[in-house]
Amino acid sequence: MPDELISQIAAGEVVERPASVVRELLDNALDAGARQITVRLSAGGVRLISVEDDGQGIPREELTVALRRHATSKIASLNDLETVGTMGFRGEALAAINAIAELGIHSRFAGADSAFALDGRTGEMRPVARATGTTVEVRELFFATPARRKFLKTDATELAHCIEAVRRHALARPEVGFSIWHEGKLVEQWRAAAQPAQRLADALSDDFVARSVAVDHTHGPVRVTGSAGIPDAARSRADQQYFYVNGRFVRDKVLAHAVRSAYEDVLHGQRQPVYVLSLEIDPSRVDVNVHPTKIEVRFRDGREVHQAVRHAIENALAAPRAGASSTATPAPFFSQTMPAAAVPGWVQPAIHFAAERGAGDALAMWPQQRADGEGAALTGFAPPASTASFAPSFSTGAVAAASPAFAPDDAWPLGRALAQLQGIYILAENRQGLVIVDMHAAHERIVYERLKQQLDGAAITSQPLLIPATFAATPQEVATAEACAGVLPTLGLEITPFSPRTLAVRAVPGTLADGDPVELARSVLAELAQHDASTVVQRAQNELLSTMACHGAVRANRKLTVEEMNALLRQMEATERSDQCNHGRPTWRLLSVRELDALFLRGR
Ligand SMILES: Nc1ncnc2c1ncn2[C@@H]1O[C@H](COP(=O)(O)OP(=O)(O)OP(=O)(O)O)[C@@H](O)[C@H]1O
Ligand SMILES: [Mg+2]
Repeated sequence: MPDELISQIAAGEVVERPASVVRELLDNALDAGARQITVRLSAGGVRLISVEDDGQGIPREELTVALRRHATSKIASLNDLETVGTMGFRGEALAAINAIAELGIHSRFAGADSAFALDGRTGEMRPVARATGTTVEVRELFFATPARRKFLKTDATELAHCIEAVRRHALARPEVGFSIWHEGKLVEQWRAAAQPAQRLADALSDDFVARSVAVDHTHGPVRVTGSAGIPDAARSRADQQYFYVNGRFVRDKVLAHAVRSAYEDVLHGQRQPVYVLSLEIDPSRVDVNVHPTKIEVRFRDGREVHQAVRHAIENALAAPRAGASSTATPAPFFSQTMPAAAVPGWVQPAIHFAAERGAGDALAMWPQQRADGEGAALTGFAPPASTASFAPSFSTGAVAAASPAFAPDDAWPLGRALAQLQGIYILAENRQGLVIVDMHAAHERIVYERLKQQLDGAAITSQPLLIPATFAATPQEVATAEACAGVLPTLGLEITPFSPRTLAVRAVPGTLADGDPVELARSVLAELAQHDASTVVQRAQNELLSTMACHGAVRANRKLTVEEMNALLRQMEATERSDQCNHGRPTWRLLSVRELDALFLRGR
């Protein structure tokens, strides 16, 4: 094969669309130590992509070499690949781009007395004027491969992908300034930020910062930091999910699954959590050379990573926001129910205030810049041991005896109960305004969390079936049942081979005795086949407990006394995850005095 053809095929793997070029050029600029990067685009990047940086530049004698395949200044041996700390290491990107576009490089090496321009097509070099740093210009992408060009979407779509590529880099590197121009107009500008929270606010939104909590968790050789959105911030699309491994943006099944299982207990239906998370791990424990675009990685020990990520997020989300003093609050009433334009201007400061308070929580992603103590109180939160029963009533003893008047200093974040509404809601008054609590949803969570604590470590009781339920099983299912024979009993299940192709369910958890045993067995085996047993055990337990809690929780239309209502509010404040019911719906909302005033057009 001619060299040019080889390069074009390689380019097909690396460059799918303009955004792929942007990604590669940004990687190079960051590897060169840039502090300010300017991206200029034309026609969504198809006509022109120019990335200018103030990094160390390329020495004159290396300029032409940089366009050759497998020319990299970043690693010299296989050993280096094991511990690669730069974004690039394959020495392919520029060669690949040069094969499918018109490429030009201007660069001045730090300390050199002049800059040089290289024409990628002719290999000609000439001196030019330029400060230290590099500008790479890519014109007429895919001019030589029209088939590829046909697959491109509209300019607007390609531009959006390019901006997203920059955003992915920018979120991981708040200390670097980025600006993006399209057709000569500035479309995004994210200034170098001293505080990571500032970058999150700029590149995502103030709302992201206001409605996320700090994550910082070390589990063996793995450290997970960053910001995880509270359940209330979840979206219908998975468009604000950023995961970095050793500074590189990745999409990975293990990580995605770990995140999903961490949110499972607090997220409603198909809602997609938002997060910007960063995993640091010894480079020798992760292979980054799996995919040409480096978006996939392979962990040496997927379980260790899965556990670290799940625990990191679970811990961060566990503390009830009702009981926390400085953290994200559920969304202000207005942002949920009215378009922004309908919110009176003077209501906005309250929202900004929330953003400022939340800002501290986002600091933990970049550990070296973490403000001491910020957010630390949240992760260490543990509910006080409670003696209340599971019966559908509340223990009102100690709390009801307390003064019904306002406790000083917001000691009761959810306020003082006023009344019950429609047999469903509790109305309470706190310093900010009116608190509305869905009493069944809230109590369900309280009972559930208490059951979880009690059952921690113990196995689920199982009930033998009078007649074993047999079913035709796949070879995979039979293999899993055999391999997991030790784990199944802890789930309250007994599944044994009946014939080489048939499995028999002989016992199920007592609480699920009414359900379909075959369906249960199948789903548990499917989970076991995919994931590590300990997760499945915990999840199955949680599902069982959740079902039990629902039956144990106070029903609608039960009349509660004010004391009972207050007791429920106090239990909520002390219960982990109490801002969401077991199905991920919110348990309470705040209607602030400002919002009430706005409803009555007061104070204008
Ligand atoms: N903006 C830049 N500033 C300084 N040096 C650069 C820049 N862009 C490219 N280079 C030099 O050119 C070389 C080739 O870049 P290229 O992106 O093709 O390969 P790489 O980054 O080493 O590996 P990969 O293919 O994984 O990206 C780099 O190793 C680096 O020495
Ligand atoms: Mg590179």
